[in-house]
Amino acid sequence: MTRHLLEIDDLTGDELAEVLALGRGEADPKVMAGQGAALLFEKPSARTRHSTEMAVVQLGGHPIYVRPGEIGIDERETAEDVARTLSQFHAAVCARVYDHSVIERMAGAASVPVVNLLSDASHPLQAIADLLTLDATVGVAGRTVAWLGDYSNVARSLALALALAGGALVVAAPDGYGPTADDVARVERLGGSLTGTDDPQAAADGADAISTDAWYAMGQEAEAGERRRVFAPYRVDATVMERAAEGAVFLHCLPAHRGEEVTDDVLDGPASKVWDQAANRLPAARAAIAWLLGVRP
Ligand code: CP
Repeated sequence: MTRHLLEIDDLTGDELAEVLALGRGEADPKVMAGQGAALLFEKPSARTRHSTEMAVVQLGGHPIYVRPGEIGIDERETAEDVARTLSQFHAAVCARVYDHSVIERMAGAASVPVVNLLSDASHPLQAIADLLTLDATVGVAGRTVAWLGDYSNVARSLALALALAGGALVVAAPDGYGPTADDVARVERLGGSLTGTDDPQAAADGADAISTDAWYAMGQEAEAGERRRVFAPYRVDATVMERAAEGAVFLHCLPAHRGEEVTDDVLDGPASKVWDQAANRLPAARAAIAWLLGVRP
């Protein structure tokens, strides 16, 4: 059966542990030798494009980057027909899309693994990199991450990844921007913990890691003014970091809007692991693609 990675809980806890073990490993088999990977982007990217391209190279394959508009998903032809066609040439089809239902439709039609490179609902490769970063610093199982700000696609994947790996997420967000009852139920079905508050200081209290993301994403520019206003109390600054546990780390998937969701002194400070986190996007992508192609640790 062809496996896809559209959200991190497409994997079981044991399967995610295998992916993480591959990600921590040094040597990788050239499982993609002589094969290609299509990397479709409807939105811009720095980390995801470069890490995934280099992951395919390190696996012995040939990545083909497809810029926004080139294939025209659901414009030139349907998402299903794009996936069917690219499956003829590639060992994997990877895509960054606006609408999660598009990548679901691609996975439904593809005959090779489909990997979500970010949708409005999820960012599974980012979550794997986040766990690799936590694992190398404060640990994962039994640890609590405080997320300040919008319960975004990145936060949602992190909550599910933590649940699969024995960690917990506390979200501090203004009313209407936190996790829904369905989000909490999904995490709890995995045996995890996802709690919400509107108090950023309370969320940060004793946390092993503090994480956040930009207050508005591409496609949300019209809401930027309102979002800057409602999220201002949720900025991660030195007072927030002081509430966290001793040795706590700061994470951010990047790109950061310096001075908005995080202050420079935190982003550039000693607790910040954001560059390790960015670096971990490569082993995360390499491990996930290798696992989908049948490699096991
Ligand atoms: N974190 C992340 O996905 O970065 P890019 O948007 O640059 O790929």
